[in-house]
Amino acid sequence: MSVEREENYPPIGKIGLWDSKFKLFMGSNVLIFAVVIGYLSVLHQKEADVITPLNAPHMVTKSGLAVPERYWGSYRSNLYFGMKNRHPDPLNFGLMWFNQKPSANSLNVRHWCSQRDGLQRYSWLKHDGVNFGEQTIIDGNLNITTSFVKRRGLRGGEWTARISVEPVKVPPPKVARDPEPMSLFFYAMADIETHNLSVNLIEKTRVESIQGSSPDIGRWRLRFLGDGNDPMKYSYLSTVVPGPEDIIETLHRTVRAVKLPNHPVKLFFLEGKVFIPDDPVKEPNFVTTQVTVTPPYTMEVLFQNVESDLDREIDNELQGEVYTKELELHKAKFDAKFDSLFHLKEKYKPEDVQTAKAVLSNMVGSIGYFHGRSLVKGPDNREVVLYWPASLYTAVPSRSFFPRGFLWDEGFHNLLISKWNPEISKDIISHWLDLMNKNGWIPREQILGEEAKAAVPREFIVQRSTNANPPTLFLAVQTLLNMMKAREIPDDLEFVRRAYPRLQAIYEYFEREQNGVEDTTYRWRGRDPDARTELNPKTLASGLDDFPRASHPTDEERHIDLRCWVALMAEVLADIGQKLELPESLHKQYREKQEVLSNNDLLNKLHWSEDAKQYSDYGLHTDDVMLVKQKSKPGEPPLPMVRYTIKAPRKRFVNQLGYVSLFPLIMRLLDPDSPQLREILQGLDDPKTMWTDYGLRSLSQTSKLYNTRNTEHDPPYWRGNIWININFLVIRGLRHYATIDGPHKALAGSLCDRLRANVVNNVLKEYSRTGFIWENYDDFSGKGHGSHPFTGWSALVVLLMGEQY
Ligand SMILES: *[C@@H]1O[C@H](CO)[C@@H](O)[C@H](O)[C@H]1NC(C)=O
Ligand SMILES: *[C@@H]1O[C@H](CO)[C@@H](O)[C@H](O)[C@H]1NC(C)=O
Repeated sequence: MSVEREENYPPIGKIGLWDSKFKLFMGSNVLIFAVVIGYLSVLHQKEADVITPLNAPHMVTKSGLAVPERYWGSYRSNLYFGMKNRHPDPLNFGLMWFNQKPSANSLNVRHWCSQRDGLQRYSWLKHDGVNFGEQTIIDGNLNITTSFVKRRGLRGGEWTARISVEPVKVPPPKVARDPEPMSLFFYAMADIETHNLSVNLIEKTRVESIQGSSPDIGRWRLRFLGDGNDPMKYSYLSTVVPGPEDIIETLHRTVRAVKLPNHPVKLFFLEGKVFIPDDPVKEPNFVTTQVTVTPPYTMEVLFQNVESDLDREIDNELQGEVYTKELELHKAKFDAKFDSLFHLKEKYKPEDVQTAKAVLSNMVGSIGYFHGRSLVKGPDNREVVLYWPASLYTAVPSRSFFPRGFLWDEGFHNLLISKWNPEISKDIISHWLDLMNKNGWIPREQILGEEAKAAVPREFIVQRSTNANPPTLFLAVQTLLNMMKAREIPDDLEFVRRAYPRLQAIYEYFEREQNGVEDTTYRWRGRDPDARTELNPKTLASGLDDFPRASHPTDEERHIDLRCWVALMAEVLADIGQKLELPESLHKQYREKQEVLSNNDLLNKLHWSEDAKQYSDYGLHTDDVMLVKQKSKPGEPPLPMVRYTIKAPRKRFVNQLGYVSLFPLIMRLLDPDSPQLREILQGLDDPKTMWTDYGLRSLSQTSKLYNTRNTEHDPPYWRGNIWININFLVIRGLRHYATIDGPHKALAGSLCDRLRANVVNNVLKEYSRTGFIWENYDDFSGKGHGSHPFTGWSALVVLLMGEQY
């Protein structure tokens, strides 16, 4: 089994062109030969640029066992519950279950988080990112609680996981249904080359323990204990599985229907040892226990290091009451820390405080650890190439729908994570910054390893180096700097010093590759001027995908949000230069750039639309476009709808009022007495445009493209829905103008309070109604919308509740 299987992609240099040109010129004279070699090596060099790491000291200086407190964790957050170590060649543990009442001939095995499973709820209730976590899962009639507790010790230490299943309690008038048999699985899986797995059985089919030896850890065992109703049957599977993405298929293939003496219908059990006939490999890389039981039942799984056996006191093993006690201790510490950080008890009902704790825990508990290689393409690459093998420690936007790293999401995630545990944040930011190539570019979606890849449609896997993504990591770094300045956390100059050249490289990438034609203007790359089926060509790089921009992409276009992001970068770089006490000559360019980009006269000249009284993009634009049906020939499949331009575009401001228009406010670039600021603030609470009872909608109702589909298949995404990350930034911006002196201080303050209350109340209401935090919220009903659970940036609601922005 190997983690990587990308042999189909030719490595750089082994490319057709080389062969053909080389052969063609071989017989020719030496001069031409030399020229060709020169040309090809320059080409080769440029092709290699995209996969050449930035030449700067690494940010991650300690990993694996050198960071014992984060060695083990629930880092397989794409699973309902799984544990993993921070190692490129990890040991994977995971929980699965199914109800022994297969519907429509298929077992509904629960394993990877999936919206299709239709679980009523799965949510970490408490999770501190380091020592423990406790999660509740409601699946039909099953009430499952999963928790884990870690202990420090030799070689990464030990942990225990507890999985309790009980029937859902039904309120008194209803009669609780008789619980049905269900099967619990807990498995170990690892690379066969480097880990030796074996299973210890009692009573022929009951797994007492799984043993193995692994790099870093040495010899270990996983012991199983049970409590509750007597299981109807113990069974197991010991086999070879190609990769974690093949587990479910293997299960389906090896399960057998069996009639037990005291049960009316056949039940499904695993077969024991199953190996491919004639395959010389007889060692398993996958072992799972299956316990079939009528709840209530509690399984405890103890991960122990064999070399620590002599030190372990038997009556202090992490199980039973000892486990409960340690879990309770961690929970109490969690509560105390949460209260002292966010002070919610004074302002919110107890159930809302519980929700806030769960939301934070879901953000922290969805941090994962990935290893693999991205597939990327630079402007000089004719073929897709493999990025260098890398590990990534990162939170994820959504455990079910986006269980992998996303660059611009991560900056938002760390606004919250840094408050909870700045060490975790610094580690995450460090991992991301180490993914930078020599051009200052970081692949924006990180699909590392086969398991991550299996969850992504193929066309989205390749990352293009011409496409940027909002530099939100600067927001996270700025927060850490502010915390250091306020002495909330100790100075970490080493972290700042190492981050500096990498942040500079990002800035230079934007200056070089996302600049506009006119001085001090900027343009997101990656818009397709020839996109025939899109109502408005998408701007994926901006993060705001289908938010309407100039209808006809040209090089002269200029994007207001991007200009404001660059201003933020310049500000942070200038601040770091000062913090590190570098000679002024080395960083004054950043302060100067910040001043230029926040010069209100220049900003107004480039982006203020006097007609619309708003900040706008500028470009070749017309509002008068529509999607029309094409006639297809008889007998042929229908053709896609295409865009029809009713009125010719002209160069002008793109007056689509929406999130983009608020960026000068968001980045606090406006002078406090700016008349433009007054216009924005006075118009902000207009329900006909962006204001709703649930937060600001992404696009004004007055926009022509409000709530329109971009193609016949793409529903509106950033064209009306309410997004929590941008609402957070707007609230932060309003708070700024509410705290500094100026003529609009009072107005900014009242808008800030009202907007904050609207967003918080709606997200809390929807959580209690649906059990989930959502990707975005409907601007008319406030209802949760899109993927769920989405405890990525929507979790910023915790900072809003605690007024920490
Ligand atoms: C699920 O079990 C937990 C722990 O016993 C309990 O606190 C909770 O109320 C149960 N939830 C439901 C819906 O039965
Ligand atoms: C696995 O077991 C084999 C034979 O039992 C042994 O030679 C090898 O060193 C073991 N590998 C590890 C990683 O411990």
